[in-house]
Amino acid sequence: MRDVSKSNDSKKPIVHSVPSLPVDEDSEGRSPLTDLLDKIIQGDCLDVLPLIPSECVDLILTSPPYANKRNKTYGGVNADQYVTWFLPIAAELQRVLKPTGSFILNIKEPAINGERHTFVIELILELRKQGWFWIEEYCWHKKNCYPGKWPNRFRDAWERCLHFTKNKQFAMYQEAVMVPMGDWRHQRLRNLSETDKQRDNSKVGSGFGKNVSNWVERDMAYPTNVLHLATECSNRGHSAAFPVELPKWFIKLFTLSNNVVLDPFIGSGTTAVACQELNRRFIGVELNAEYCSIARKRVGNSTQLTLW
Ligand SMILES: C[S@@+](CC[C@H](N)C(=O)[O-])C[C@H]1O[C@@H](n2cnc3c(N)ncnc32)[C@H](O)[C@@H]1O
Repeated sequence: MRDVSKSNDSKKPIVHSVPSLPVDEDSEGRSPLTDLLDKIIQGDCLDVLPLIPSECVDLILTSPPYANKRNKTYGGVNADQYVTWFLPIAAELQRVLKPTGSFILNIKEPAINGERHTFVIELILELRKQGWFWIEEYCWHKKNCYPGKWPNRFRDAWERCLHFTKNKQFAMYQEAVMVPMGDWRHQRLRNLSETDKQRDNSKVGSGFGKNVSNWVERDMAYPTNVLHLATECSNRGHSAAFPVELPKWFIKLFTLSNNVVLDPFIGSGTTAVACQELNRRFIGVELNAEYCSIARKRVGNSTQLTLW
């Protein structure tokens, strides 16, 4: 079993083998799940993930370091090497995820040398080759992005939240994220046309169709795949913290009470906070000692895990 210890240099955790550890391990070197639950574990996720038993996680939700971004705060990964760097991590994520589980990857390619880099597109293709299904792309619209001027594009106001699964049948609780129908319905649903009263199949033969009359008398509707949420980094001690509503939305959509959520790049611990608020269990991994301590403070100091 590998040992992931605290290090003075937050970017270089000490990783070494220790024969007698306070956590038990099975014949494959995995820790019992209960030893890892509700913990923020410091280390490189590539070293920590092998501790997690196979097929025990219901949802993986994470925002890995961006390519060539924030080198001064928590380091970046070279865009040209991003796919090579991420694939071994993704293989471990695939192992620990339940067959019914989901993996949400928040990521956005920067513009480098005047054009958007293609590594996210390449990553999607490689993840599919690794056996993942690419189910959906949710768009996080960042409502409060700063104004700016660029010579050949406008300011970035959205990020991808890519949804991958191991199977086409997976756990999804759509009712948990329903939204109010809104006032438009009073006007739109008052005088239904004949077409509105029956299933109106798509004219292009896609197999899709709608029956507007199904929504009369309803207060709630299913949401779209666009999440309109402001960023919340200023008071978190982390330059790329999620707004807590972002992990909460996906956690509600893909898990039930007491299910297990893994964030292998947990930063300031927002995914763990969301889990606590929703009564889910979490496993958080973070390389940087300072961010680990911020995350641990946010979720309560008793959740520290030191694997030595
Ligand atoms: C985009 S941030 C995540 C922010 C997080 N969602 C939050 O709400 O605070 C990515 C994090 O991954 C951490 N990180 C980078 N490489 C890592 C690795 N190999 N293993 C674990 N964490 C890593 C960075 O220190 C950084 O805090």
